[in-house]
Formats: sequence, structure tokens, C-alpha cells
Amino acid sequence: MLILAIESSCDDTAAAVLKNDRTVLSSVVSSQFDIHGRYGGIVPELASRRHIEAIWPVVDEALRQADVPLGDIDVIAATRGPGLIGSLLVGFTFAKGLAMVLDVPCVGVDHMAGHLLSPFLAEQQPEFPYVALVVSGGNTSLYRVRDYTSYDCLGRTRDDAAGEAFDKVAKLLDLGYPGGPAVSQTAEQGAADAFDFPRAWLDPDSLDFSFSGLKTSVVNQVGLFRRQQHFLPVADICASFQEAVVDVLAGKTLRAAERTGLDRIVLAGGVAANARLREVMQERCAAANLRLFIPPPGYCTDNAAMIGLAGFHHYRLGGGITPDTDVYSRPRLH
Ligand code: KG4
Repeated sequence: MLILAIESSCDDTAAAVLKNDRTVLSSVVSSQFDIHGRYGGIVPELASRRHIEAIWPVVDEALRQADVPLGDIDVIAATRGPGLIGSLLVGFTFAKGLAMVLDVPCVGVDHMAGHLLSPFLAEQQPEFPYVALVVSGGNTSLYRVRDYTSYDCLGRTRDDAAGEAFDKVAKLLDLGYPGGPAVSQTAEQGAADAFDFPRAWLDPDSLDFSFSGLKTSVVNQVGLFRRQQHFLPVADICASFQEAVVDVLAGKTLRAAERTGLDRIVLAGGVAANARLREVMQERCAAANLRLFIPPPGYCTDNAAMIGLAGFHHYRLGGGITPDTDVYSRPRLH
């Protein structure tokens, strides 16, 4: 089965061609850092308009790289939600229209399902069931993944996502956008124990996350330095902030492994590119006898290959959608 997959839930326009679920023939991503950078965050209206410009060239390029003519495509898979409505509508409506013209089925895929199954695009693949931490700009959630189409949400953020906190701290410190890579690069020169920023563990049993208190604490600390016109120790702030985020992410993931009795852990989403998070997860998983699976960086950040993989299995289980199927903005995989 040849699948054309499309992803446009946020600020990346992506398309991929897959043969069945595991063979990625091409994966093309067009990012929008240039237009959102000057605002320090994503401007939804600008994102939608850029998706409109990019969608056809990106799909065309994916087909060209895969050396697959459009007429050979058997199924089209596209992200249906969660995400920015205007952005989702561009990719999803494009996919539905193309499927209608080609007279092939179209399948709507939940973006989180793509992240949860992304380790199957790596060389080392986990067996079901496993615990997955999905940590990105819009999500920070823990799941038990039972099989290709069945997932239980064990916990999620009650306010900011971890990536969003990185982006906001970067904006506060004028480090540019996207903030995660900038903060983690700056942190390399700083001391992780310079500031004792708060860790929100919540109730002893909770697998939920909260990063707004940490963000406020960084804002207050920076405000204090600025009011007193002291030199701002940017690297130390970045390193200490990053350590607080990583500590909670790793701690809660190990708590989820203990709770479920599972020994396979998957780390996915854009923040999984963070070197310190990878290092701490590797150390703590090894110490607890857990096996850790992290997809290659290109399949951690938003991409369409993971949507094709999830789309393949959802299509086999539930078939295609009807033309009146709509997108959704809020998470549905609870
Ligand atoms: O998964 P993704 O590409 O898009 C969605 O949010 O869905 O993740 C992007 C997020 C941004 O918030 C970005 O700042 C963060 O991942 N990020 C990082 C790193 N690289 C990307 N955060 C921390 N450290 C990084 N190295």
C-alpha cells in the first residue's frame, strides 16, 4: 500500500510517502521559523497562510523524492487534530480534496498518535505495550500505548507544555525563536545548580505536569536582576531552568513506568531533541533497568512520516473518512 501523508497542525508543512507502515520513501518538512521568529512565537493567521503557499510544493517534492506518481497513491492520511484550526484546515482539506479527485480513501490521524508510534520509524523498535512521554511545543503527556490504535493517557500538563515554557523563557531572555534549541545551547555554558527553580511534582500520585509556576519563577528572577541593574547570568538561568524541566519530565516518566509495571519507555516530540533530557533519561532508565527508545531527531519534531504510519493502522482498522469530517483543536486522546 502506498500512502501519501500530510501534516500541518502547527507551524510545519510536511508531506511523506510511505510503503505500508514502516518504509519511508520520502519525508519533506517546510518550517516557518522565518515568519514567526520576529514575534517570538507562532502567529496562527500567518501560519495558515504559509501552509496554503507551501502545501502543494511540499507534497510535490515528497512525491518526486519517493519517485511515486500521484496516480499510484492508494490512501491519503492527514492530521485532523489537535492543533491550530486554521493550519489543520489547510492540510486536511487539501488531503480530502486530493483523495476525492484521485478516488482513493482519506484517513484522519490524531497528531498525538503519530508521536506515540514514531519509535517504529527508528532502527530499534519497542514491543507493545510501552510508556511514552510526548513532549513538544503544544503537548506534554504520558501514555500507556497498548497497540497501534489503543492508548491510555496517564497524565498531561495542566497549563504550559514543556516546549512552550522553553519558548517563553527564550523570549524573556531575548534568545530568539524557536526557544528550545536556543535555551539548551546557552545552558551549556551555565551551572544547572545556580538557581533552585521550583519543580511542580503535584500530588504524590499524580502523573500530570505543570510548568507555569516554574516559568513565573524565572520571570521574577529575571525581573529582580533587571530592576537592580545587575548583570543577568543568562547561561546560569537557562541551565537551571532546563534542569528543573528535565528533572520533572524524567521523574514523572519513571513514576509512570513503576505504576504500570512496564519496562519500555519511549521519548518523543520536539523537546526529545534536548541533549540534557536525553542524557538524564538514559541515566535514570539504565539505573532502573528500563529500556529507552528515542526516534531520530527528524521524527521527534513534527513530520508527516509518523502520520502516514499511524494512518496506515487506523485505515486498516476503521477505513476512510467521509468528506464532511472536520478538524479539531483540543486533545482527544485522553
Ligand atoms: O514537536 P514539535 O516540532 O512541534 C510541536 O510543538 O508540535 O516541537 C517544537 C517544540 C518547540 O517548543 C521547541 O522550542 C522545542 O520543541 N524544542 C526544544 C529543543 N528543540 C526543539 N526544546 C528544548 N530543547 C531542544 N533542543
